[in-house]
Amino acid sequence: MNAEVRKLLVELEDLGQAHDAAESDRSRKFLNLEPETAQIVSMLARGSRATRVLEIGTSTGYSTIWLAASVAPAGGRVISIDRSADKQKMARENLTKAGFLEAVELRCGDATEIVASLAGPFDFVFFDADRISAPTQLVLLLPKLAPAAFLLADNALSHPAEIADYLTAIENLPGIQHALIPVGKGLSVALTGLG
Ligand SMILES: C[S@@+](CC[C@H](N)C(=O)[O-])C[C@H]1O[C@@H](n2cnc3c(N)ncnc32)[C@H](O)[C@@H]1O
Repeated sequence: MNAEVRKLLVELEDLGQAHDAAESDRSRKFLNLEPETAQIVSMLARGSRATRVLEIGTSTGYSTIWLAASVAPAGGRVISIDRSADKQKMARENLTKAGFLEAVELRCGDATEIVASLAGPFDFVFFDADRISAPTQLVLLLPKLAPAAFLLADNALSHPAEIADYLTAIENLPGIQHALIPVGKGLSVALTGLG
């Protein structure tokens, strides 16, 4: 990742923190990933040579830039979904500034409906929207996954009750390796295709 993109990400981190501290309406907060979590997501995406990435929960595009920067140099592309048109507009602007808009398809609407309409296949899925509908989205995505696909979800420690059904569904998948990394708000990392 070049220095200009790194600088933009630091600016977005500062902006996001200031915005969220001043905003009382949770639905309007940016809720960008913690930088350390973003580093791990990025390393997994880049190190696994993922090229078909799906992100559920774009917000203002902070994590989308990390994902695109990780996979675009190897020809990878990212589809990212958010129901907020306002946030998607900001994400588009931020991705343009970062130079990664071409590598990203932004989709606006309910994530479950959009996931149902996507063809796949995906080799890297990052769940970062509402934890409640993630299990349904997971079921819809299972037939659309590459043989070895990473399935990541944030908020595994910050929202234990909300994410419990997703984590149970992940643990029950055949051929899955799963770990919960205590970074940021808690990152669930799973890889399909074992044995
Ligand atoms: C935690 S934020 C995503 C943060 C982003 N990944 C980042 O690091 O910059 C969650 C986002 O998911 C969106 N969202 C929540 N539930 C959704 C749903 N059911 N369908 C589509 N978007 C949803 C919200 O509008 C919000 O922007």
